[in-house]
Amino acid sequence: MKIAIANDHSAVEMKQVIREHVEAKGYEVIDFGTNSGESCDYPLYGEKVGRAVVSGEADYGIAICGTGIGIGIAAGKVKGVRVCTCSEPYSARLSRMHNNTNVLTFGARVVGTEMAKMIVDEWLDNTYEGGRHERRVAQLRDIENR
Ligand code: RB5
Repeated sequence: MKIAIANDHSAVEMKQVIREHVEAKGYEVIDFGTNSGESCDYPLYGEKVGRAVVSGEADYGIAICGTGIGIGIAAGKVKGVRVCTCSEPYSARLSRMHNNTNVLTFGARVVGTEMAKMIVDEWLDNTYEGGRHERRVAQLRDIENR
């Protein structure tokens, strides 16, 4: 399983922690940067993660900026992305089980590294339940086609 990861300048260290964490869980990581602390623009990095997931290059995406919000908005603009921006593990877990999210974002300036790892674990370790949720996820796809 492959995970696309990207971040802006505010999350270089957090990205490294998360990268090592998911690699230790057995995932292959495609790192789209940035690996520099120089100020950059999060939309590009959110888009890279979104496109990698939708194209099938990666199974899931994780994108990190200061708040997780800007990079999440960017990833969510890519057709086929269902993004969750999480500051705690409960929402991350339910977003997989009910919403079949394929991109997770969070803020390096919002959560600490241990909380971030818990969020990632709940997101990756849970699976989509389908069933009654599929009707609603299909409705999300319908919005993209209107
Ligand atoms: C960068 O300063 C900051 O705006 C960015 O990381 C992010 O929080 C935007 O949503």
